[in-house]
Amino acid sequence: MMSLRFHFYFLVLFVSIVIPTQCLGEICLPKEHVALFIFGDSLVDVGNNNYINTTTDYQGNVWPFGESFFKYPTGRASDGRLIPDFIAEYANLPLIPPYLLHPGYNRYIDGANFASGGAGALDETRRGLVINLNTQLNYFKNMETMLRQKLGEKEAKTLLVKAVYLISIGNSDYFVPYYPNSTVLQYSAQEELVNMVIGNLTTVIKEIYKIGGRKFAFLGLPPLGCFPLMRALKQGNTSACMEDITTLVKLHNKALSEVLPKLQSELKGFKYSIADLYTLFSERIDNPSKYGFTEGKIACCGSGPFRGIPSCGGRSSVQEYELCENASDHVFFDSAHPTEKAYQQFAELIWSGTPDVIGPYNLKALFKA
Ligand SMILES: *[C@@H]1O[C@H](CO)[C@@H](O)[C@H](O)[C@H]1NC(C)=O
Ligand SMILES: *[C@@H]1O[C@H](CO)[C@@H](O)[C@H](O)[C@H]1NC(C)=O
Ligand SMILES: *[C@@H]1O[C@H](CO)[C@@H](O)[C@H](O)[C@H]1NC(C)=O
Ligand SMILES: *[C@@H]1O[C@H](CO)[C@@H](O)[C@H](O)[C@H]1NC(C)=O
Ligand SMILES: *[C@@H]1O[C@H](CO)[C@@H](O)[C@H](O)[C@H]1NC(C)=O
Repeated sequence: MMSLRFHFYFLVLFVSIVIPTQCLGEICLPKEHVALFIFGDSLVDVGNNNYINTTTDYQGNVWPFGESFFKYPTGRASDGRLIPDFIAEYANLPLIPPYLLHPGYNRYIDGANFASGGAGALDETRRGLVINLNTQLNYFKNMETMLRQKLGEKEAKTLLVKAVYLISIGNSDYFVPYYPNSTVLQYSAQEELVNMVIGNLTTVIKEIYKIGGRKFAFLGLPPLGCFPLMRALKQGNTSACMEDITTLVKLHNKALSEVLPKLQSELKGFKYSIADLYTLFSERIDNPSKYGFTEGKIACCGSGPFRGIPSCGGRSSVQEYELCENASDHVFFDSAHPTEKAYQQFAELIWSGTPDVIGPYNLKALFKA
């Protein structure tokens, strides 16, 4: 008994010496605690769209979404966890819930997720059906007000300055013009569309910076033209990727990689990471077996060519859909989103990978920076 108690006190003493803590208001956390704030589209939406008035096309809250990990649909557009779920785990944070689950939720110590499936950097991308990037920024500002009230000015600022801001945006802005009967393709030049998207994104980055954000992580755009959705929409030789959208994606990725160093020289303390999802996806689509998949081009869930018709779960006008045996065999879960297994591979590389896939910082380094 004595010796047990001795060990207990010893342990408490040991822990308090080794792990310095920092108190934010009444809450004390390990000093290295870093929050994660998430903005963007369906690649990072963990369920915000469950709480808005939209069509089922932009929600992942029907079976078989979620089948592999959660065993029930959560609103994530995959069979399981997404990149931010894995990053939170690697950073010793709990799963970051959708902001709209508890808009008045009083902690936000670990971060918040504002992303919305289908959202773009342009307000007009699926206007009225999604939470666009500007509205996500407004939610972030509301949260910041609550955080200051809860923690105090200085502590809230400390948390926001140390935090990592993970952003996935642009996919929807470039998808939409290719939908049948889209009214969006009114830009005379592809450069014009890309410049607007990058311009809107830059405005949002600067706003987050003004509030305290310093450490930004961006998901570069994947090869959207090779997604099952785009292959299915394509006329003619459907085994090829859709080149027009690939051009846009490449223009966007180039513009993003040029604007971020500029922001770094303009904004004191600004640090960033870009994940090369283009390469990470392409490698797996072209060489699935090298990465433990049996199928790189056809989705697990959906209908039509490449299961590229977004009918997974019977959500859209097409009620019938096919579902593969084991999602882990596929790179894509539905017409436009990878499986948890693919996301896990991406997340591991984004966390601790080398500059050929994530740089200038990987996320492990960005969290510590
Ligand atoms: C949701 O949208 C539908 C169709 O657009 C509309 O009829 C309904 O009134 C909306 N509901 C709310 C709560 O806004
Ligand atoms: C974002 O893009 C839209 C076009 O959809 C434009 O009207 C809006 O002013 C832009 N917002 C910002 C903050 O640049
Ligand atoms: C597109 O427009 C054509 C002709 O106006 C119409 O027949 C078709 O149903 C529309 N498709 C969609 C997906 O709305
Ligand atoms: C279709 O596209 C694939 C992939 O780009 C190419 O290998 C094939 O030769 C094309 N087939 C035809 C008939 O053009
Ligand atoms: C699915 O495949 C993976 C390997 O790719 C395997 O580890 C897993 O057990 C399989 N799941 C089921 C339900 O068969």
